[in-house]
Amino acid sequence: MEEDMLDINFDNFRQDRIGEEGLGEFDLDAIAKLIPAAHEKFQQWRTSGDAIFYDLAGSKDISPEIFEVAANTAENFENLVVLGIGGSALGLRCAAQALLPPFWNMLSGEERKGKPRLFVCDNIDPDTFSALMRFIDVKKTCFTVISKSGKTIETASQFFIVLEKLKQKLGDDWRKNLIFITDPTAGELRPMVKAHGITSFAIPPKLGGRFSVLSPVGLFPAACCGIDINALIGGAKDMADRCAKPDIQENPAYAIGSFHYWFDAKKNKNISVMMPYSDALLLASDWYSQLWAESLGKSGRGQTPVKAQGATDQHSQVQLYMEGPNDKVFNFLRVEKFNFPSTETKIKNPSSAFSYLDGIDLGTILNAEQRATEGALTQAKRPSLTISFPKVDAHHLGEFFMLYEIATAIAGAHYGIDPFDQPGVELGKKLTKEILEARL
Ligand code: PA5
Repeated sequence: MEEDMLDINFDNFRQDRIGEEGLGEFDLDAIAKLIPAAHEKFQQWRTSGDAIFYDLAGSKDISPEIFEVAANTAENFENLVVLGIGGSALGLRCAAQALLPPFWNMLSGEERKGKPRLFVCDNIDPDTFSALMRFIDVKKTCFTVISKSGKTIETASQFFIVLEKLKQKLGDDWRKNLIFITDPTAGELRPMVKAHGITSFAIPPKLGGRFSVLSPVGLFPAACCGIDINALIGGAKDMADRCAKPDIQENPAYAIGSFHYWFDAKKNKNISVMMPYSDALLLASDWYSQLWAESLGKSGRGQTPVKAQGATDQHSQVQLYMEGPNDKVFNFLRVEKFNFPSTETKIKNPSSAFSYLDGIDLGTILNAEQRATEGALTQAKRPSLTISFPKVDAHHLGEFFMLYEIATAIAGAHYGIDPFDQPGVELGKKLTKEILEARL
């Protein structure tokens, strides 16, 4: 392993740390025996194209068209509004939160180096949407509509509202402010691309939304805002290489997927908490929650993902984590070197009660709190793994995305379910349509 890669530490899963609740020799032997079959299943999913996410990252260079259109978009528009939901939004939101400077949309054009503000509309709350429409100048806005299926009601509804506005303001030029990212042939958006010459990118047909952040779905809007998408893909490729062998000792994605499965199936831990101690990584837990829930929650199986924030949730959730039911596996994320100089957040002249804070910076305190919470949970015999980012940058985020995508597939193989479909969301969609049609 290269020194600069993500460090993934499983020590607090072990029985010598947390007693019977943890993994002993018997568990580790039994898990090792499950690996060949899970690996075989993963290879089958790669061959069938279901696990295309793995081979997509790094198998080819990113299409030069993404860079060209992104550069034009940045040059011509003040705002980039993404219309998309679920897997068509969460990866981008996570990447933007992690890799753009904080308060990006409040920075001046110069501070943003001429790149657009970014708004991701992943809900249809009318108050939020109308406020955004009032705030932006539609003429100076590129609307990127992202929908793999081209059939999603929330994205379609927003799109029709935007289309009317574009037609009102721009007349025949309305299409110039639109970019579609959708299936290469299927769905309702693709025919419009052909009919009106709208700029578009294709999402590989078998690539599911929650596995699509490293496709044009995440890469194009990220590139518009100046995120180094080559580094994102480079990190993902490095992690894919690191996780190629069916050996749980060397393959951290197989370890994450397999250990979580085992804790759920054999140790009654059916909740998985992700707790980043970094605001930049906050939405990593939203992205993870969708990936874990929508992929693995099937046939009465699957762990419930929970999002928590360090240090904030130490004053909210941690009481439950320490003394409530021992039914959780914890995934801590920490950052070794924060992006802004620690001199800016150094504490000077604290009162005598806080004298131990003298001369230290907020990052040091945050990391101490992460270690303390991890240590306290270990003493309370609660299993946790810790992922350390040397720093939050595109390369390490790419590693992180690939790590948990592979882990999810491997957990799916252990559960004996298909992690790439989502039949359970169809009924709600059908009922929504029926309710709305009944109004006609
Ligand atoms: O992960 C998934 O497949 C889903 O969350 C989809 O991304 C979400 O339902 C949006 O679908 P679409 O991109 O087809 O509009």
